[in-house]
Amino acid sequence: MREFDAYFLMEEKDVIEYAREKLSLFQDDSSLHCKEIGDGNLNYVFRVWEEDGSASVIIKQAGHTARISDEFKLSTNRIRIESSVLMLHHKLAPGLVPDVILYDDVMNCCVMEDLSSHQILRTALLDKVKFPLFVDHVTTFMVNTLLLTSDVVMDHKEKKERMKNYINPELCEITEDLVYSEPFNDYKVRNDLSSLNKAWIEENIYGDPKLRLEAAKLKFSFMTNAQALVHGDLHTGSFFVTKDSTKVIDPEFAFYGPMGYDVGNILANFIFAWCNTDAVMEDGEEKASYLAWIEETIEGIVDQFSSKFLEAWENHATDIMAGEKAFDTWYLRTVLKDSASIAGLELIRRIIGIAKVKDITSITNENDRARAERICLTVGKTFILEADRFQSGHDFLKALKNEASLEVLKGD
Ligand SMILES: Nc1ncnc2c1ncn2[C@@H]1O[C@H](COP(=O)(O)OP(=O)(O)OP(=O)(O)O)[C@@H](O)[C@H]1O
Ligand SMILES: [Mg+2]
Repeated sequence: MREFDAYFLMEEKDVIEYAREKLSLFQDDSSLHCKEIGDGNLNYVFRVWEEDGSASVIIKQAGHTARISDEFKLSTNRIRIESSVLMLHHKLAPGLVPDVILYDDVMNCCVMEDLSSHQILRTALLDKVKFPLFVDHVTTFMVNTLLLTSDVVMDHKEKKERMKNYINPELCEITEDLVYSEPFNDYKVRNDLSSLNKAWIEENIYGDPKLRLEAAKLKFSFMTNAQALVHGDLHTGSFFVTKDSTKVIDPEFAFYGPMGYDVGNILANFIFAWCNTDAVMEDGEEKASYLAWIEETIEGIVDQFSSKFLEAWENHATDIMAGEKAFDTWYLRTVLKDSASIAGLELIRRIIGIAKVKDITSITNENDRARAERICLTVGKTFILEADRFQSGHDFLKALKNEASLEVLKGD
């Protein structure tokens, strides 16, 4: 038996041996199987299971380069951050993240609970499945992981110690480039514009100095506002769901940043789901009902986040000045403003930048896809340029419905 005391990138057969050596989960005489099931860009995700189905586990290993390209060099520090954040989130938001069984800092892997009984939320949304408990789960997750890691609640010295642990320069740089810089510049190396929206983007995104100024301000806020431990990649591909369970995975982009980064991301990704539904479903009752559920979800995310945030503040705030009358509501207003701006950035970057979302790319009709893109771009601009006025779920939804009805490409 190997001891796995020196790092190498494992293949399926190595992972079986690793699981036997490091975990006490499997019977000695059982027959084990392993498959690499990763579908992301960065890491290798292996599922190991006992033939009779009695036990299984996920082993996620980080390489020195990205899974999709050896030219993309990245340190393995990201799997340390991911494992550590999953364990912290497990305490802060019990039941809402997978259990971590082992973090191995030699092999740079995280062994965690197998969630194969769940489905990735983005896939389920494309299949038009509803999740009535999702709003409750995601808002509890965000309030608990954000407010409880901030200076409002934590001892300030402990918080600063924790910040050190989650300094994440390489993955933050990816976000700084992909979200905050490239979409606002004619970055031909990686931006990928659809032909029907190219001229519009050149004029209204690259060519809008007011928008670019706001993007610049937001970029520097992202880099300096160490408000809370954010997940950093809270899109619909980072949730595993069933009808009654929600698990948040993949926090490798976590760092101390603005709370609105997480809230804005999930809101924007439900807008992608809305645009997909609008484009691909036949008009009728089913479509109306699915759109209505997405709209309730968008409203609920903002409104339940706000009410739970104020309640948690009341119960957990420790800083003496945090108790000042009306400081909590002022603080929440700033978080919602950031959430609007960041939702806007996410809406724009997923249309212009390199990392697209399936909700939009899978719309096969070119005109319908161009219309969906244009809705995302115009709503995104409104969120960024008028961020101050987005203070309720209704405000967010109204902007979406307004831009969707005005949309010039409609019926092309
Ligand atoms: N705990 C788990 N249980 C079952 N399947 C999982 C689990 N974690 C990850 N997976 C599967 O592996 C896929 C990739 O996982 P994950 O998103 O964590 O990897 P990644 O390399 O960080 O991807 P990305 O490039 O999107 O960041 C998921 O979409 C899911 O299908
Ligand atoms: Mg990831």
